[in-house]
Amino acid sequence: MCGIIGYTGNEGDVLDVLMTGLSGLEYRGYDSAGVAVSNSSLSVHKREGEVSALEAAVPDDDLDGLAGIGHTRWSTHGPPSDENAHPHTDAESTVAVVHNGIIENYQELRRELEADGYEFTSETDTEVIPHLIRAALDTGADREEAFREAIHRLEGSYAVAAVFNGSETVYAARNESPLVLGIGDDGHYLASDVPAFIEFTDQVVYLEDGQFARVNPSGIVVTDEQGAVVETAIETIDWDPEDAGKSGYDHYMLKEIHEQPTAIRKCLRERVSELEGTIDVDALADLEHDGPVQFVACGTSYHAALYGAKLLRERGVPAQCFLASEYEVDAIPAIEETLVVGVTQSGETADTMSALRAANQIGAMTLALTNVVGSSAARECDHVMYIRAGPEIGVAATKTFASQQVALAMLSSVLSGEGSMEFVERLRDLPDQIQKVLDESNARDIADAYEGSDAYFFIGRGYNAPVALEGALKMKEISYEHAEGFAAGELKHGPLALVTDQTPVFAVIAGDTNVSKTLGNVKEVEARGAPVVAVTDSPEQVGQYADHVLEVPSAGPLLTPILANIQLQLVSYWVANRMGRSIDKPRNLAKSVTVE
Ligand code: F6R
Repeated sequence: MCGIIGYTGNEGDVLDVLMTGLSGLEYRGYDSAGVAVSNSSLSVHKREGEVSALEAAVPDDDLDGLAGIGHTRWSTHGPPSDENAHPHTDAESTVAVVHNGIIENYQELRRELEADGYEFTSETDTEVIPHLIRAALDTGADREEAFREAIHRLEGSYAVAAVFNGSETVYAARNESPLVLGIGDDGHYLASDVPAFIEFTDQVVYLEDGQFARVNPSGIVVTDEQGAVVETAIETIDWDPEDAGKSGYDHYMLKEIHEQPTAIRKCLRERVSELEGTIDVDALADLEHDGPVQFVACGTSYHAALYGAKLLRERGVPAQCFLASEYEVDAIPAIEETLVVGVTQSGETADTMSALRAANQIGAMTLALTNVVGSSAARECDHVMYIRAGPEIGVAATKTFASQQVALAMLSSVLSGEGSMEFVERLRDLPDQIQKVLDESNARDIADAYEGSDAYFFIGRGYNAPVALEGALKMKEISYEHAEGFAAGELKHGPLALVTDQTPVFAVIAGDTNVSKTLGNVKEVEARGAPVVAVTDSPEQVGQYADHVLEVPSAGPLLTPILANIQLQLVSYWVANRMGRSIDKPRNLAKSVTVE
């Protein structure tokens, strides 16, 4: 995890640019932050805590400079502390380094450096890098040679940036961790992700694994592992910087929940033809596949993938869904004829990338379903379909989940060849129906009614089962309350023992084609005294068995669950809000999990 930023140029105060960048990257980790600015010497400031704690700690007049780097951390090696925060330097503060990733051979390198007299001050894997650079300088290498020599010694994953005292150059390298360069009018940037510098430029170059960059105020030079200059393509990002602000909402999460109608419209644009009733995804035009499909994904994306696999099976395509972290534990389940789809909003999740790489290796066809243009998944898979949700800053996924579901609905049509005018019309109506849910939701009252419950349970059958799992995950993540989601039929096989009059059960009965069976499960929990909240498009049929109803419009069996999920997002949000939780940055979590 972690986010890194680097800047050199005349855009303004180096420190301001770095702080803006770190705020845009905080979703990648927020247990400590730091900056280093190069001038006649290196000024380094770092603090445990969020970027705001760092900002408060940096003296106003201290950090004018030529170039700088910054870091926001999600701990892997060593707990959050001032010492373990990045940047790390050598003992003489000749060079400062920030890093995202994991250096697998750091213990061996550390032993070697310590034996040579280099003293360490942190428990991090990263600190070997400035000492390796210093060691190379000590043998006569120039700055760039020293940086390259150090990087060549590393095994593992890294996006690294380094700045030397008295220098206006930022050096960078990447292997298996994201790194993008930004080309501005008055300066140049590098960062783990575009929101770090989108305020300043939309012109970007994505670094590939094994590449190095030398970033100066006057330009960038990208080189390969051997040092040969590489031609790079400049891409234009079509994000509005406004998209990355809160636009008046108290939290990014609430803003992003309300952005779902727009996100879905973008996801559908130019992909569904209302005239012909067809679904045609340009990006999939050359995907020819009629074999089995396997999904690999984690967390919320896994829930979307469960939904996608159900859609495909219903349409006659054999499809399975795997937790990415389990995919390779036994013999890899794909065979060459399989299409392996990585569902990953960030496109950087290490577990998912590892599963996709394993699939690539056995010669299976791979497809990335992702939100991030140029992400590792997008670049390494044979095919890519973007979900077009726009930047999502809140750590808890909301609009990306809905966009994944809609993208999967389109994918299932493309792969199965099945689509109908009715389905296209239903997709087209979805954004307005989501808007109606947002406008009329009574989720806040429900959250108030059940505040202080012992636990929250979520049940659903068929397409509603993944929604139940997602409802519980959202509740856990942002409220820290005990929540569990189950396929409705499973409750009686054990979890029913947990049900009491203090455990509200959210029964998702949305577009359900098995209403009577799910109602049977509702009656089972009612008999144990549990309050029931029905999330449904059939209030007349279902309402009489529930204490409360969260109503959604009807969008048919396949799409109504997407609407039900919006209600559950809102319930979790309002429960967490009442409890005063850190909604956008829940404890212990980070948005992009780049460790296995
Ligand atoms: C939860 C959440 C996570 C992610 C998971 C995979 O709200 O966002 O469970 O879904 O870490 O991330 P991606 O989709 O980036 O692969």
